[in-house]
Amino acid sequence: MADSDTASLELSYDYALDRDCTTLSRHVLQQLQSFGPDAQDLSALMSRIALAAKLISRRLSRAGLVEGALGFTGDINVQGEAVKKMDLFANEVFIAVFKQSGLVCRLASEEMEKPYYIPENCPIGRYTLLYDPIDGSSNVDINLNVGSIFSIRQQSGDDPDQTGADLFQPGHRQLAAGYVLYGPSTMLVYSIGTGVHAFTLDPSLGEFILSAENIQIPKHGPVYSVNEGNFWQWDEAIRDFTRYVHRHEGYTARYSGALVGDIHRILLQGGVFLYPGTLKDPEGKLRLLYESAPLAFLIEQAGGSASTGLQPLLDAIPTHLHQRTPLIIGSKEDVALVESFIQEQSLNERDRVMLNS
Ligand code: AHG
Ligand code: MN
Ligand code: MN
Repeated sequence: MADSDTASLELSYDYALDRDCTTLSRHVLQQLQSFGPDAQDLSALMSRIALAAKLISRRLSRAGLVEGALGFTGDINVQGEAVKKMDLFANEVFIAVFKQSGLVCRLASEEMEKPYYIPENCPIGRYTLLYDPIDGSSNVDINLNVGSIFSIRQQSGDDPDQTGADLFQPGHRQLAAGYVLYGPSTMLVYSIGTGVHAFTLDPSLGEFILSAENIQIPKHGPVYSVNEGNFWQWDEAIRDFTRYVHRHEGYTARYSGALVGDIHRILLQGGVFLYPGTLKDPEGKLRLLYESAPLAFLIEQAGGSASTGLQPLLDAIPTHLHQRTPLIIGSKEDVALVESFIQEQSLNERDRVMLNS
């Protein structure tokens, strides 16, 4: 290596050392400009999510070497989907980490039929954590990116039957939401209603360090992200949108099988992700409370939008814990384009009904 290369390497190393390393818990307090009890709670909650993320990231990074990390458990979850060992591990990591927090009285996840109560926390714990412990679990066994999705809501009202009925409220009610992306590096992207901020896990420090602040999604982007294998199962409107992007220059398809990865790309580069209803599943596949709503909260905070096709996603009110919803999410102009095809189809249907009556 030439001397000049060594010198510039050392220079960049020094620069990294001098950098203002903002940690997640400090960032939350800075964002809220407060050291009051609510701000302290949110900061502590985000630190706990970061701890869960580090534990999951550590297991994923060595999964091929560890006994019992990969493959299926043999069980089927409440969604009717085969459970992976990593789904179970990550689900339990969140439970263990939040049991110790004192702040969370209840957790609800994709992998548990009913909310999980932590009675010893409930007299003081004022929050519920909703989460998808491993998103995109079909990617786990082939060492591709996966994620975790989280949402924090204030505990409000009673839940006598322990069905989570008091959670059946619009997504605007979320206090915090975000995701962890386990990719070449592990990133945590979050919002507490003051913009969207990204942290990268520095494994040598064991800390999430601020890597991008106030991320703004482009108004329009080239990517459309949808499983076109379902083409003949969709409504005509979604098929028309797909035909439109096939026929126009400037669009490109990207679909990873893990929502978190696809959303991360779109957050940074613009575009639209869709999981519409199908003939088999008219509500689509994605779950409102712990997949679609947290990501909608985040994308709206970054200046994008999210829709069910019929209404803003954050206005949708679930009637049960594991409710699914169609999802169209991403850059404002691209979401509006998809919605315009849906509106056109419903106008055409209305005209047809009027003509026949
Ligand atoms: P999960 O692994 O939590 O069940 O989520 C998988 C989701 C989502 O991540 C992804 O976008 C979608 O399912 C992929 O589904 P298809 O294989 O039907 O396209
Ligand atoms: Mn998921
Ligand atoms: Mn999952």
